[in-house]
Amino acid sequence: MTASESDAIFETLLESAKRLSFDSRSPLVYQSEPGDDERHGMTPQWSPLYGTPLWESMSESERIRLTRSEVAQFLGVGIWLEVGLQVALLRAGHSANPARSDIKFLFNECADENLHSLMFANAIDSIGSKFYPRDRMLDFFGWVFRHVIWDEVAYGIVLAGEEIFDVMQRDWMTSDDVAAPIRRAAYIHVVEESRHMAYARRKIRDRLTGLSRFRRSASTLIIALGTHLIARSLINRRVYEDLGLDWEAVKSNIDGNEHHRMMFRKAAEPFIEFLSKEGLLNFGARWIYRKSNLL
Ligand SMILES: [Fe+2]
Ligand SMILES: [Fe+2]
Repeated sequence: MTASESDAIFETLLESAKRLSFDSRSPLVYQSEPGDDERHGMTPQWSPLYGTPLWESMSESERIRLTRSEVAQFLGVGIWLEVGLQVALLRAGHSANPARSDIKFLFNECADENLHSLMFANAIDSIGSKFYPRDRMLDFFGWVFRHVIWDEVAYGIVLAGEEIFDVMQRDWMTSDDVAAPIRRAAYIHVVEESRHMAYARRKIRDRLTGLSRFRRSASTLIIALGTHLIARSLINRRVYEDLGLDWEAVKSNIDGNEHHRMMFRKAAEPFIEFLSKEGLLNFGARWIYRKSNLL
């Protein structure tokens, strides 16, 4: 692909941003609807505990409390990714010519991501949930991600998060049993992220041309490790302990939950397909994705 063909893609993405962007600061996004009290935080099928003996032993209102806390954890990881992405990409783009169409799109993407993070925080407030402290490991990885990681890896890990959230949120936005603020936030996110995913895929493809075999396999493994950490951090023991559940029991229910593994694989499917097409899946990476139930 030539530079001007690439430019044309970024211009098209900028045009799409002009036509299809939402102001998620509007209070209308967070307004609850009649019946919201009996609705979940996310489509219950996405709960890692869905269908387990522990899930079956819960009352419906306990399950609602559970999915509301779990969605806070999921969206908290989303915010962590959105902020990390900006730090990494803005560092890399700080000295670039701001008139370049890819840099203009990067500015637009950062504007989107800031509003998404604020939207997720507001949506979690509006369903009476809260964010939980993250694992130390994720914070350490965040530091590495922001300071050390190079282009195709940064875009790869970000794309992993965006693709996985896209699959889940397509369900949330259309589920009648999900509270209205989460449904609306999921809809806005799905629409606005579709151009981010196109941007990340383009950026990764551009970076991969002419890459040495060594660098390609190093990037392949680090993308897999980053994705593994993100997938793992969606399940946070503090969420369950805060709800008065015994972590060991929760863990063994989740570990034995074939439905949960199937949902994670479904969430990762488009991302894994992209990696395989671009030659970013080697033996080691496959092993890691299997460990995280993404393959
Ligand atoms: Fe986002
Ligand atoms: Fe994004």
